[in-house]
Amino acid sequence: MANRSAGVAAESVGARTVGLVARTRRPCGVYRPFMASTMYERVGGEAFFKSLVDRFYAGVASDPVLRPLYPQDLDGPNEHLRLFLIQYWGGPRTYDESRGHPRLRMRHAPFAIGLAERDAWLHLMLSSLAEAGLDAQDEAEMAEYFRATATQLINQMGRPPR
Ligand code: HEM
Repeated sequence: MANRSAGVAAESVGARTVGLVARTRRPCGVYRPFMASTMYERVGGEAFFKSLVDRFYAGVASDPVLRPLYPQDLDGPNEHLRLFLIQYWGGPRTYDESRGHPRLRMRHAPFAIGLAERDAWLHLMLSSLAEAGLDAQDEAEMAEYFRATATQLINQMGRPPR
């Protein structure tokens, strides 16, 4: 019985905590329990990342700047990027299990990435993202992550990134 009461108390504390989080106002004006879920869950899990990455690679297939950097068969790169993004945004950690630590700077070192390559990559990824029609706050968060990471992967001398 004592245990039971303790359980109820803990639950109420939990409920109050979630309640407070749920009433936190986000910059876009939407109220929601943003601490109660991962981006992976909010966007709909694996299906979202599969369509995002499929759209992105459909663009790579005919992009004059990016296509020469990638191998003939885009299935491998497609799978790696999908698994990486799923893991990054809080989904299953299959990427680490199959590929090891991401080490993105190191893995991109063999490819010459300057401003033109970064811009082409971002253009394709941000338009693929926009097509998904996500909640504005989630889209902004993901877009900011792509901008920052793509800029970090520039490995060619030249003008400093804008
Ligand atoms: C800045 C422009 C970028 C260019 C030009 C670029 C290009 C490439 C290329 C050519 C590959 C190798 C494909 C292969 O041969 O298998 C690759 C792999 C990969 N890229 Fe990028 N990339 C860029 C940005 C990014 C960003 C921003 C991310 C993450 C948000 C990312 C994540 C990955 C991942 C996860 C892999 C696979 C790594 C592996 O497991 O081997 N890339 N990228």
